[in-house]
Amino acid sequence: MGKVFNMVVDKSGIGVITFDVVGEAMNTWTEDAFIGFDRVMQELEIAKGIRGIIFISGKPENFLAGANLKLISQIESAEEVRRTLDLFHGSFARLIALKFPSVAAIHGHCLGGGLEFSLACTARIAKEGKNTLIGQPECNVGLFPGGGGTQRLPRLIGYGAFELILKGTMLPAAKAYEMGIVDRLIPAEGDLLASARALLEEVIAGTANLKRPVQDFSQIDAIAEMAKAGILKATKGREIPGPMLALKSMHEGLKLPLEQGLEVEKANFVEVVLSKEAKGSINTFFIKGMTDKPKAMMTKGFVPKPLGKAAVLGFGTMGRGIVIEILRNTKLPVLVKDIPEALEPGKAFVRKILDGMAEKKRIKEPVDEIMARLTAVSEYTAAFGEADIVIEAVFEEIGVKKQVYGELSRVVREDCIVASNTSSIPITSMAPFVVKPERFGGLHFFSPVWLMQLVEVIRGEKTAQETIDNLLNFTGLIRKRPIVCRDNAGFVVNAMLFPNLVNALKYIEEGNPIEKVDRAMTRFGMPVGPIRLTDEVGIDIPYKVFVGMGIKQDTLKNVVEAGRLGLKKSGKGFFLKDGSVDPDVLPLIAKRPPHEASEEEIQMGILTAMVRMGKDILDRKIVDDVRMIDVGMIWGLGFPPDKGGPMKWADLTGLSQKLYGKNFYG
Ligand code: NAI
Repeated sequence: MGKVFNMVVDKSGIGVITFDVVGEAMNTWTEDAFIGFDRVMQELEIAKGIRGIIFISGKPENFLAGANLKLISQIESAEEVRRTLDLFHGSFARLIALKFPSVAAIHGHCLGGGLEFSLACTARIAKEGKNTLIGQPECNVGLFPGGGGTQRLPRLIGYGAFELILKGTMLPAAKAYEMGIVDRLIPAEGDLLASARALLEEVIAGTANLKRPVQDFSQIDAIAEMAKAGILKATKGREIPGPMLALKSMHEGLKLPLEQGLEVEKANFVEVVLSKEAKGSINTFFIKGMTDKPKAMMTKGFVPKPLGKAAVLGFGTMGRGIVIEILRNTKLPVLVKDIPEALEPGKAFVRKILDGMAEKKRIKEPVDEIMARLTAVSEYTAAFGEADIVIEAVFEEIGVKKQVYGELSRVVREDCIVASNTSSIPITSMAPFVVKPERFGGLHFFSPVWLMQLVEVIRGEKTAQETIDNLLNFTGLIRKRPIVCRDNAGFVVNAMLFPNLVNALKYIEEGNPIEKVDRAMTRFGMPVGPIRLTDEVGIDIPYKVFVGMGIKQDTLKNVVEAGRLGLKKSGKGFFLKDGSVDPDVLPLIAKRPPHEASEEEIQMGILTAMVRMGKDILDRKIVDDVRMIDVGMIWGLGFPPDKGGPMKWADLTGLSQKLYGKNFYG
């Protein structure tokens, strides 16, 4: 066990306590940290001659990043939550009860339980810097501040704390200073410890002039009402425990004296920690971290091939999106090839999207400079010989792909990486068309490419690990979130989508209204219902996939054969322009024996179908790790992050045990 808190008391009676959780990149409230804090408190409670103390982190870029989420997600009983909470609150109460003042000297992340700790100090000073972020982001991981944050932060800064806590906003140092969370601000190059000493001396001398206004919470009922409406708007009406209980803690607790308010917070915190949504959200947090940096997913020690030029084949819906992502995220010159008529509309489209991004300040570089890196051509030129990576996004027809790869192979270098954005043609079946099948793989993007984070990196039978690593490197450069999988009908995400749609259609064929089935899934947390999604992507697309897979789906067949390919695609589909179901589609719905399903039954039925597909994907080793499925579903399809992905949700709801006698996650 490493010593976390180290105190040095100088001759003038100022104790400087440096904390550093040994062996971790970030300081968090680990068990060692609690024990260390307890020891230092014992020392301070009996120490003689101390006039004041400063807490400062020993880490270069981090103060204290909060509670340890791994530990929290493993807690299973209310008693255990209580015990941890009492330890947490007890530590802060002892700090507050010391006979001398304390100063938190903040640089780097001061978040969650880190901010709560500094709120228990007499005063706070923060150093500016790109890593200095101050806030209570617990609601983002399905929790809420349970170490006094819902009581101390509003009492310090007023109603502004509501939004900070409910949205989980993380503030730069200057903003935290402006809002009154920290008492002093020093520039990035300042001497934090020396400035903290100066502040502490002022506090001791009574000249610090700390702003501690008495807050007026007389309007709290109205504010809480508004805040609730805001939460429900963001969650589309779903009452997710984290923000709901945070609000309840503030609403009820701020009407009471601090001590009682803290008890309200504790009671609600027990509930939130044990909620399935907290465990789901924490899973999402970890699987996000796992895929945030695609380079970390590459083979250890792999040195990626340097990229000097990229090429894209096809300047249609997907080609344009891919071009946008390369142009805005890298400095690579991009060649794009399509028929002559497609070039100008393609360029105009790319510019329009980039202009929109520039307007919203999402890109800093002038759009003209970005566009200067793009060359659109209708013939293969010598420049293709300079390409280090080519992404193919031409028509989804194997004959077209074969011809394109044949032509391409004559112009690119042998070491060029080639990737297909196909959505349904196996990579292995296209491998014979390229000269170097080991340098060929799949990169399956989602539409619209510039908005969707996910990319499936597909390993064909002949794809070399080196190519997968280079493709992972490329997804990192263009800031996408990759999952790696093997060839499979629909790869991961679309494969999971098929049973979703098959089941949704089954409920409709049993006589349940389309609106009801869609609503069941939006109430579950999906961004759109399965039928609306089908209408939006084009009804013929899943229909063709089903035909290819030998799945008989009469409703889709009837609708497609009636020329209804979706509102956007052919002007007619399941829905009318006003969003309601088109009555003309109803006679086309195939009939099954009637069965009225409840909302929950629909949700469970569709989830079960997805989970069965997920199990099949795992059994057939399409992915090596169950987390890849959940990443795919959250960032490729918008599966609700508070549920942690379908496979995690199956574990949390007992579905995995019921179906297979064990959980997917270890
Ligand atoms: P699209 O029809 O919008 O664009 C295809 C483009 O390829 C057209 O501009 C066409 O002129 C061009 N093209 C055809 N033959 C060519 C050739 N020999 N050389 C150069 N260009 C050629 O199609 P979309 O939607 O962009 O799809 C492209 C690929 O991406 C397909 O394989 C599709 O399955 C896949 N995909 C599509 C998604 C979508 O949501 N639309 C999602 C993920 C993958």
